[in-house]
Amino acid sequence: MLRVMEAQSPRALSSAAVAAEPRFAAHLADFESRFGAELTAAGPARLFFAPGRVNLMGAHLDYNGGPVMPMAIDRGTFLVLRPRSDGKMRIATSIDKTEALFELAALCIQEAPVAEGRWWDYSVGVVLSLHAGTEGGLDLEKGFDFYYGGDLPIGAGLSSSASATLATGTALNAHFELNLSVEEAIDAALWAEREFVGVMCGIMDPFAVGFASPGSVLLLDCRDRSWEHVSLDSEKYIVGIIDTMVRRELAKGEFNLRVEQCAQAFRALSPHAPAAGNLSEVPLGVLDAHEESLLPDVAKRARHVIEETARTFEARDALKLGDVAAFGCAMFDAHDSLRDLYDVSIDELNTIVDFARGHDAVLGARLTGAGFGGCVAVILRAGTEVAFGKAVTAAYVARYKIEPRLAFYKGSPGLGEVAL
Ligand code: GLA
Repeated sequence: MLRVMEAQSPRALSSAAVAAEPRFAAHLADFESRFGAELTAAGPARLFFAPGRVNLMGAHLDYNGGPVMPMAIDRGTFLVLRPRSDGKMRIATSIDKTEALFELAALCIQEAPVAEGRWWDYSVGVVLSLHAGTEGGLDLEKGFDFYYGGDLPIGAGLSSSASATLATGTALNAHFELNLSVEEAIDAALWAEREFVGVMCGIMDPFAVGFASPGSVLLLDCRDRSWEHVSLDSEKYIVGIIDTMVRRELAKGEFNLRVEQCAQAFRALSPHAPAAGNLSEVPLGVLDAHEESLLPDVAKRARHVIEETARTFEARDALKLGDVAAFGCAMFDAHDSLRDLYDVSIDELNTIVDFARGHDAVLGARLTGAGFGGCVAVILRAGTEVAFGKAVTAAYVARYKIEPRLAFYKGSPGLGEVAL
């Protein structure tokens, strides 16, 4: 019926695809000033980029098997990999001085490795997943230094974790010559976040990072992983991000609770909707008829998922026809549903979306990512961003006494190795 995309054949994970830019060179210089610029016998340092993303439509649908429409942004993770020949892995970041050092062999032979609750768990998870998942495993005598940095705010709903795990997979693929496909790198990223770190995230974020294409929105059907690119005319429209500066660390507990509530709703409703393979496919009439049998919060979550699925298909059709105004209206409706039914918005996000709703330049706005803080994504008429930016900043500062951070999408370089 509504699902018409073809499954794609796997794509090779690219290397040397990203053009050099001063921001990447600055990260490499930062690495060298901290850890030395001397060449090791194991070879020169390499640099990798992975974008972040905004999600424009399909909020909290990925783990419910629905359609999502994320778009990669030009900000992302920068990762230096410098080979070592002592079988050790050092993981460090430009954000602070904490770092970790592991013997790769000792790390990878553990039967049931446990995350330490530290930021490097994400990288360790990818290493473990690729060691277990590739034929013969990683060559554990080949060590490396990892140095993370970038220009993506962390925990702001812009997918910093998928960006970091995909950068990690891309770097390991190049260093160990694994010949991974993008899908295999995505699976390693998902294993790291779900099984190792313990956040039950859906598939949207690593797909948005892995299949980023400048000027396009990714339309991903999370039921069967089929996807296509839908273009958004960047001559006429611009996507922006307004960061509330409120951080709620992907509120792991709240997020996992939503996942569990949706699973509960599906368990209760599926006997009445035998054709539905997941909650996003349950007909609205079935929910209307059986709502009383659900806990009130569970019924609200289910209503959001079922209505957002229909709304996202309509938005997809509108965007394909070039009707960005209708697409934008769907974004506003999505935000209202996230606020009233899914209960993942906060006052700061609502204030920005309400301001955007009343501004001539804006076609659509909504919270992006999991919610509980972070950013609003907005679509504007190109050329209005300076005026809109000033106006929204003034309104936000007047109310909260802090400046929001704004960024406008310029076209993502995509995932890959930076040509140094
Ligand atoms: C987070 C998760 C995603 C998705 C969004 C909500 O970003 O990591 O998988 O569920 O929330 O749409």
